[in-house]
Amino acid sequence: MGRTGEKKRPKADIFLEDCIVGMHHVERGSVDVIVTSPPYNLGIDYSSYNDKIPRECYLDWMEEWAKVASLVLSPKGSLFLNLGGKPSDPWGPFDVMHRLRPHFVLQNTIHWIKSIALSEASTAGHYKPINSKRYINNCHEFIFHLTFAGDVELDRLAIGVPYKDKSNIGRWAAGQALRCRGNTWFVPYKTIQNRRQDRPHPATFPPQIPEMCIKLHGIGRVARVMDPFMGLGNTAQACKNLGVDFIGFEVDKRYFEEMVGKETTT
Ligand SMILES: C[S@@+](CC[C@H](N)C(=O)[O-])C[C@H]1O[C@@H](n2cnc3c(N)ncnc32)[C@H](O)[C@@H]1O
Repeated sequence: MGRTGEKKRPKADIFLEDCIVGMHHVERGSVDVIVTSPPYNLGIDYSSYNDKIPRECYLDWMEEWAKVASLVLSPKGSLFLNLGGKPSDPWGPFDVMHRLRPHFVLQNTIHWIKSIALSEASTAGHYKPINSKRYINNCHEFIFHLTFAGDVELDRLAIGVPYKDKSNIGRWAAGQALRCRGNTWFVPYKTIQNRRQDRPHPATFPPQIPEMCIKLHGIGRVARVMDPFMGLGNTAQACKNLGVDFIGFEVDKRYFEEMVGKETTT
């Protein structure tokens, strides 16, 4: 809050730069939450980044940026790492996590559900159907919650859900009206009409994902958030919505300019 009581305008520092280079200039321990989705090495058609490099080179690179990110993360900080595989190449996220194990503790594993069928008649969300006799459609991605010691306190009810049976409020929840959401987060993509105009990037997450991660860490404990792989800037958007400072990097000029353009027209 400023002296007149008005809400402080959050600061966003965004850089068109390789994140490994850029993060070396960020003050050590100055970031409370990292929410990011790096490339998955699944052959996604990015505008300039090559998303199909030999697996070992990819894993070396993932470990390298994560080590640099760990230097700027505060001791009680959280890294929310969004990773996905594909049915014919399911090991990617697990191989990455194996590489990160010496550097972080896996405190929580969250499943970002993009589409769900609750019964024959009830489905919600979107996915691109695959044509296969062997594989079923992949309708989720991981959000790995990594910390240094596995002891970071969370504000679970900040993203809590109301009890359906209100009698449980007295019985289980000591008067709390909300319960923990758990680790299955159903967040579908917004329906769009024109991909080039509405979402000109092949691999984004909705801003609700970083918003939920930041709130879960505890908004009162977050002075600054970082996204080393900004894409179209959905983590930056989440920070703006929540009123927290942001720093981020994106190596691709086209996505960077889209983001800056979006920022100046909103
Ligand atoms: C999965 S996308 C991130 C999308 C983002 N979460 C969003 O919602 O828009 C990964 C991004 O990382 C960028 N990238 C790849 N290598 C990078 C690097 N070394 N430094 C910074 N950005 C990089 C790619 O250009 C791509 O836009």
